[in-house]
Amino acid sequence: MKKAVYSLLLVSFLVLGVIASGCIGGQTQTGTATVTVTKSVAPEQNVLEIYHWWTAGGEKQAIEAVFKKFKDKYPNIEIKANPVSGGAGVNMKMVLQSLMLAGKPPDTFQVHAGYEMAPYVKAKQLTPIDDIWTKDMRDHYPKVIQQMVMFNGHYYAVPINVHRANVVWYNKHIFEKYGIDPNSIKSFDDLMRVAQELKSKGVTPFALGDRNKWPATHAFEVVMLSIGGVQFYQDFINGKITDPNNPTLKKVLEAYAEYLNYVNSDHAAKTWDEACGLVYKGDAAMTIMGDWANGYFKAKGWKPDVDYGAIVLPSNVYDLVIDTFVLPAKAAHPEAAKKWLSFIGTVEAQNTFNPIKGSIPARDDAPLDPYGPIQKKFIKDLRSPSTKLVPSITHGSAVPPAFLSDLNDIISTFVTNKNVDETAKSIVSAVKQDLLPNKIKEWKLT
Ligand code: GAL
Repeated sequence: MKKAVYSLLLVSFLVLGVIASGCIGGQTQTGTATVTVTKSVAPEQNVLEIYHWWTAGGEKQAIEAVFKKFKDKYPNIEIKANPVSGGAGVNMKMVLQSLMLAGKPPDTFQVHAGYEMAPYVKAKQLTPIDDIWTKDMRDHYPKVIQQMVMFNGHYYAVPINVHRANVVWYNKHIFEKYGIDPNSIKSFDDLMRVAQELKSKGVTPFALGDRNKWPATHAFEVVMLSIGGVQFYQDFINGKITDPNNPTLKKVLEAYAEYLNYVNSDHAAKTWDEACGLVYKGDAAMTIMGDWANGYFKAKGWKPDVDYGAIVLPSNVYDLVIDTFVLPAKAAHPEAAKKWLSFIGTVEAQNTFNPIKGSIPARDDAPLDPYGPIQKKFIKDLRSPSTKLVPSITHGSAVPPAFLSDLNDIISTFVTNKNVDETAKSIVSAVKQDLLPNKIKEWKLT
């Protein structure tokens, strides 16, 4: 496999990017939730305390299946899992900050590869894990992915999967009923044509669930890739879009406003998985979401390519979302954590987790038999030299967390007011205020 997401974080993590801190211990306020931090350090040696946010359909079953395999291998290690609900880690990230500030991190926790890790590395809250990265792992993880978990030449995380963000999921029964050919959708304009057709027949074209904001940013990211292409996306994440009159930025926002005309009216009340539920129930035809939606539909008993299908936009792009686990410097049980990290780096763990999760293995030598047809296609795409790999903005890899937080707020406001000019100005000022000062490396997506 080739190219594209080049050595972002390799040599030059020396700089900036401190996440705005929450409060220490006690309660952490988030946009929609109050999370109570109930961390207690277990005295036993054979404990693995782990934080993750996989609580929705598909993801919950996936992580539990891995826990079971780990338990089979290490029956003496007790897993103390702390799932914090809220897709994309919206709530868990706040809890983590509090635990870190209190000096009481868990033994390991879920974090996206790339920029999302940077503040922890900078604050020396993570231990380098070069010893975990055996030759076998170095030989079998694509270089691009390895580079996304390296800072100053050291490994800091082990990826368990690769998700794809740029996917439109559709209810096959609805498409068949209205004679819509998914293969006719090759561009954003095609997608809007189909949306218009469905709307005229009384069907809600898209399910959106942006109660936690990020699903709106996620759709915006996919529209940006579809309208602006990889070059604009690269400029955007490198902080090069600094003119509020940039015509492509405006075109992207106009296209995004068009998409918003076709979403369910109660989108602000729903979460990402509830939006998938609308597609499953037949109350909406499509949803723009990462392939954890695949895990969701499978958990509901739906069959890929029979009940639901996937349209990739743009078709030659793999918008990477990579879930990893790390070793906090102050982990109470580092030996158990190391066993966990080594385990998730194996084919066995990845082929237990990913078939259920909807993602694909991060390793390139995992046998394909446990995967469904959509996953098999995605595995092929990831390995194809003509696929362009881009890091996800919404899922933490591409931009500093402070900028992502601004962007979530800006896009959330846009969903309500659809004001292109004001939003372009807000984005540009966030680029100047929170992206550029925290930038650590230039992305080259070719
Ligand atoms: C993403 C994460 C996925 C999935 C999704 C919804 O950020 O990478 O694994 O969990 O959030 O929760």
